[in-house]
Amino acid sequence: MKKLAVLTSGGDCQGMNAAIRAVVRTALSADLNIVGFQKGYYGLIHDLAEPLTTRSVSGILQRGGTFLQSARCPEMHSPGGLEAAVVTLQRHQVEGLVVIGGDGSLRGALALHARGIPVIGIPASIDNDIPFTDMSLGVDTALNNIIHAVDCLKDTASSHDRAFLVETMGRKCGYLAVVAAIACGAEHALIPEIPYDIEAICANLKRRFEEGRDNSIIMVAEGVGQAQSIAEQIKDKVGFETRIMVLGHYQRGGSPSTFDRVLAARFGASTVEALRRGESGKMVGLSCGKVTFTELEKVLTSGLRPIDQVLLQLAQILGI
Ligand code: F6P
Repeated sequence: MKKLAVLTSGGDCQGMNAAIRAVVRTALSADLNIVGFQKGYYGLIHDLAEPLTTRSVSGILQRGGTFLQSARCPEMHSPGGLEAAVVTLQRHQVEGLVVIGGDGSLRGALALHARGIPVIGIPASIDNDIPFTDMSLGVDTALNNIIHAVDCLKDTASSHDRAFLVETMGRKCGYLAVVAAIACGAEHALIPEIPYDIEAICANLKRRFEEGRDNSIIMVAEGVGQAQSIAEQIKDKVGFETRIMVLGHYQRGGSPSTFDRVLAARFGASTVEALRRGESGKMVGLSCGKVTFTELEKVLTSGLRPIDQVLLQLAQILGI
C-alpha cells in the first residue's frame, strides 16, 4: 500500500480536524502518501485534491470545523456521481479512503466499498445517532456548549420566575436533549423518540412555581417541533412567562474537548491501521472504552442508535 485519502462529509463537528491530523500523521509515519479531498464527496466527484503533509495538519488539532471543509452531496447518491468519485480515486491511485462524517456520509462510504474501493468510516455527528459506537465525534463538545449556554440562561430565568424552552439539535435523535437535561438540571427533555404530554408538563411547571422554584428549563430536541409553538402552548395553559433559546449551529462549533481530541486520535490512527491490514467496508467505533470495527452494512441497516432508557429515566427522576 502506497497511498491513502481522507475527506470530511455532511454536517461538520468538533474533532474532525483532530481526526484528519491523526489519519495523516499515522499514514505518514507508516511511509504512506496521503491526499485530502476538499468539500466531502463533492470534492471527490470534482477532484478537489490536496496532498497532505505533517505541516498541513499542524495547528489544527484545537480548531473546530474542518479545514478540508465539508458538504452535503446528493450527487454522490446518483450512479453518475458514484462513478465520478471512483474514477477520481483511481486517477490518484488511492488504495484506501477514510470518510469522516454522519450516517449519510457512511452510506457513500459503503457505496464506494461495494465498487471495490477500500474504505473505513469514522462516525462524526453531534447528534450521536449512529449505532455501534457509544460516542461519535463532536458529541462531547456539543454537550459542553449546551451546558454552558443553559447555565447562563438559568441566571436570567431565575431573576424573572421564567420557564425556558431550549432547542437542541437532533432531528431524529434526542440524545443531546436527554444528556443535557441531566447535566443542566432541566425539568423535562422532549425528544422525537417519545411523544410528550403537554398537560403533564404544564401541571409539573405550575407545581414547581407554586412551590417557589424560580425557574424551569425544558430541553427540546429539534425533531420534536418548534420550541416556540410549545412555549406558546405552555403560556396559554399555565399563564406564566415562557421564553425560548434555539441553540442551532452554535452547538457544532468551538474547540473540541479533551474527550473529542483523544477520541479523534484513537479513531484516526486505528482507521489507518485497519486499512493497512486490508480491512474495508467498516466503521470504527467506541464500545465500553475500546475501539471496535463494525461492518458498514450492519451499521446502516440497524436503524438509528436507540435512546438510552437508563439515561432517560435518570433525566426523569432528577427533573422533579
Ligand atoms: O446531523 C447533524 C446536524 O447538526 C443535525 O443535528 C441538524 O439537524 C443538521 O445537522 C443541520 O444541518 P445543516 O448544517 O445542513 O443545516
